[in-house]
Amino acid sequence: MKITVVGSGFVGQTAAMRLLEKALGDVVLIDIIEGKPQGLALDLQEAAPVEGYEPSIVGTNDYAETAGSDIVVITAGFPRQPGMSRMDLLAKNASIMSDVIAKVTPGSPDAIVIVVSNPLDEMTYLAAERSGFPKQRVIGMAGVLDSARLRYFIAEELGVSPASVEAMTLGSHGDAMVALPRHATVEGKPLPELVDDATLERLFQRTRDGGAEIVGLLKTGSAYYAPSASVVAMVEAIARDTNAVLPVCAWTSGEYGIEDVYVGVPGRLGRGGVEEIVELELNEDELGKLRAAAEGIKEKCADLAKL
Ligand SMILES: NC(=O)c1ccc[n+]([C@@H]2O[C@H](COP(=O)([O-])OP(=O)(O)OC[C@H]3O[C@@H](n4cnc5c(N)ncnc54)[C@H](O)[C@@H]3O)[C@@H](O)[C@H]2O)c1
Repeated sequence: MKITVVGSGFVGQTAAMRLLEKALGDVVLIDIIEGKPQGLALDLQEAAPVEGYEPSIVGTNDYAETAGSDIVVITAGFPRQPGMSRMDLLAKNASIMSDVIAKVTPGSPDAIVIVVSNPLDEMTYLAAERSGFPKQRVIGMAGVLDSARLRYFIAEELGVSPASVEAMTLGSHGDAMVALPRHATVEGKPLPELVDDATLERLFQRTRDGGAEIVGLLKTGSAYYAPSASVVAMVEAIARDTNAVLPVCAWTSGEYGIEDVYVGVPGRLGRGGVEEIVELELNEDELGKLRAAAEGIKEKCADLAKL
């Protein structure tokens, strides 16, 4: 597999490291800043003898090196600066996404594109529109991260290993995140049997605010260890064709009564991208929240046309 990571910032560089450590393929790390991806790639190659992975990474500013990629992970983006409105940020990152798609897709027409850049729902939609790729080959990363955060918070609350916690979030990042307590389990037991409603709500709210909590602590920059682990989990499912079902931002065509919008749903991932959207059994309340999240995303994506 040839895997390109666009953007060698914190998420991109840690994703590149994890891809090498997991031996998922040959990695190309690309950025607009001269020297940055080259320096990071060399540093990662120098870690290879110690870590025991193959030093199969190239750092570059030239898209010719990305040609023939099977998977393209896009982490290029601009952080929100003080005084920047949501529309200012949207305009800035939409222009970066359009630029990246225009440069990366001609050489890799069969690639699966995984979008990480924020605002995630809008950037995923834009990447799909600009690339013209079949929608199942353009996927956004948010749900794996939110679900990981929720699983960790549940494990911490109950004093158990995160590995014994299963939980999935759908919808979108932030307030439109749809938590599914009935589908969450701890050591096989349904979560609502283990904690009261107030605790459930506290855990869900902490998950919704998970990104902001880390930004508040770091002061500059945002999370990257869990985000890079999450995107690499998606790459792994695709590269190894595992058919794992992960919560991903995927194009809907009537599933859950939702269509023509990218929204967080359980997707079966394989070499074709999103091979299938899995329809969990949701009650009216859960379904209502998921549909409301989808409507919210449609409205936000409509702002792209106003730029
Ligand atoms: N989806 C999620 O859950 C999630 C989680 C964490 C971060 N993010 C987002 O991921 C993005 C990256 O985060 P980060 O912490 O790595 O940011 P960062 O600022 O450390 O890195 C961004 C990189 O993108 C590069 N870049 C800018 N324009 C480019 C272009 N046109 N082509 C190639 N590279 C370009 C920059 O030079 C920089 O190296 C941000 O948009 C962030 O909000 C999303």
